Amino acid sequence: MRIPDEFLQEIKFRNDIEDVISRYVPLKSSGSNLVACCPFHSEKTPSFTVFRATKTFYCFGCGAGGDVITFIIKIENLDYITAITKLADFAKIPLPEDDGAYREKIIQQKKLYDLNREAALYFHKNLYSNAGKDALNYLYERNITNPAVKHFGLGYASNSWYDLTKHLSEKGFSKEEQRLAFLCRITEKGDYIDLFRGRIMFPIIDLQSNVIGFGGRATGKNADGSEIMPKYLNTSDTPAFKKSRNLYALNFAKSSKRDYLILCEGYMDVIAMHQAGLTNSVASLGTSVTGEHARIIAKYTQTVVLAYDSDDAGKRAMEKAASLLKEVGIEVKALTLDGAKDPDEFIKRFGKERFENTLKESKGYVNSKLDYIHQEYNINNNGEDESERKIKAINKVCEVLSGINSPLEQEVYAAEAAKKYNISFENLMRQIAAMTKKRQKKEKSEFINGEIRKSEGFNDRINPDAIKNLKAVKLEEHIIGTLMMYPELYNEVGGEKGPLCEDIFITEFNRKIYKIFEREIKEKRFENFDVAFVMKEFSLDETGRITKMMVTVTDKAKYSKETLEKIINALREEKVKQNIKSDDIKTDRFDNIRYRADKMQKSNK
Ligand code: GTP
Ligand code: MN
Repeated sequence: MRIPDEFLQEIKFRNDIEDVISRYVPLKSSGSNLVACCPFHSEKTPSFTVFRATKTFYCFGCGAGGDVITFIIKIENLDYITAITKLADFAKIPLPEDDGAYREKIIQQKKLYDLNREAALYFHKNLYSNAGKDALNYLYERNITNPAVKHFGLGYASNSWYDLTKHLSEKGFSKEEQRLAFLCRITEKGDYIDLFRGRIMFPIIDLQSNVIGFGGRATGKNADGSEIMPKYLNTSDTPAFKKSRNLYALNFAKSSKRDYLILCEGYMDVIAMHQAGLTNSVASLGTSVTGEHARIIAKYTQTVVLAYDSDDAGKRAMEKAASLLKEVGIEVKALTLDGAKDPDEFIKRFGKERFENTLKESKGYVNSKLDYIHQEYNINNNGEDESERKIKAINKVCEVLSGINSPLEQEVYAAEAAKKYNISFENLMRQIAAMTKKRQKKEKSEFINGEIRKSEGFNDRINPDAIKNLKAVKLEEHIIGTLMMYPELYNEVGGEKGPLCEDIFITEFNRKIYKIFEREIKEKRFENFDVAFVMKEFSLDETGRITKMMVTVTDKAKYSKETLEKIINALREEKVKQNIKSDDIKTDRFDNIRYRADKMQKSNK
């Protein structure tokens, strides 16, 4: 079941890719195409291209690509169905009434929301029952009060195998639905058992107030006194929940009056901060921050204060979050929590007033890094190795400052640092300039090496077989691109008559594309191929690669039946070579290729 192709085409016809994309990025003409700086990665010279002829976009820098639907999915962080709904809305076309897939998906999603809500209510009630007594006391001990427990809908999953499943089944939810929602799992014996057991439950609520998933914190200890692992169990991605797109408590934080967001790591931190009046705090859900998170955050605020754990892992996570947030234009500040490992502990130990003060003092990200260096090398402490420490620290400072793009900002920080370390501004700037140069050189050679490796098929995550036979990959991509651009050629080279068949493809990824393309074309016999027809079967990255195959085929004159046959022939030779090399020749496949080859030779005569 799927959205009808006619409907997809209608949506795309009414939502011109050029119009839609130009609402997000300013497009400039370049030959028959349009270009811009890519909104999906940061760059200074435009490699993001919109192709008018195929109504597609492709970024030659980061490989993002697809059609107007892909674009909306990526830029608005939507799922496929929601993106289509949105585009239909833009164009004021009603959604197909009788479309099973759409309805099915909405019904399934709604079912999961209902199921999660029921589970959340059950967990919450459970927390206040006898079974949840210890868990509730644990929360009280951690200074979480009843109003916060209610506000966040906290709950308790009993330490039992069938508690929740039994309740949900009584409420009419099937075991399979419960499994889909990540609330129970099947044992080897085929039993459905509760997934969350003996855990304090934190329901995760989306911006439309749906309960989309849970985080569950273990309470108590194992019988032998050891800690229960994992400490937190989180809902995996389900049809109703994507970790990389949701933030804990954003449903509350979005209406906070403060004009910045506080981003931290933990559920407990968020609750502690909300209790302290900082209702503008959110956390990522047991994962590091993603680019999608950054783009969502950018819709609500221009400033983010990072409140991460003060250990090394926290610092690394903070570094990553900071760079993703800066990429989408957010001003990033960092909180320094002296004497506590995380915001929750800080508030518990020193109170909310002091936390507020720390927050007011939270510095721009650069300054907090500089402060950290100052601390790390114990600069104000005299000692015998004082000069060594000072030199090391200054070098680190230069490293940080050489990473700043704005010359003005760089100069201001450098002037301050020169004063702080009592050295000349000129010397400091000279050192920074040298480091910048070195860094640029290194980045350039890394980039070039990366490109070389990519063109050699190393690290190709989309088509991991590429490394095995680069020549074949190029040929395969050429064939696929040509057929997608000129599907009428399929009848000449493929099908029953032609030399082309799925078996001559060497890489699995390209074979899969070809198979799906062939299935579609046989079913529908369309004249124009559209990425939208096959997109649902590929990830966004894969869609990008398919788009690349299409957009690199431009001049029809060069892609006649004859040239295509030559390419197919070359690929066939590669395949035969590989089959001879390979130990496990699949005879039927091999025969099929030979058979096709014979046919081609005959047809060429
Ligand atoms: P408390 O220990 O109760 O104060 O919680 P915390 O949030 O401070 O815990 P911590 O700093 O260890 O972890 C921060 C966040 O990382 C948590 O809120 C979880 O989202 C996630 N997390 C922690 N431990 C695990 C784990 O074992 N598995 C997974 N998937 N996520 C975890
Ligand atoms: Mn904590």
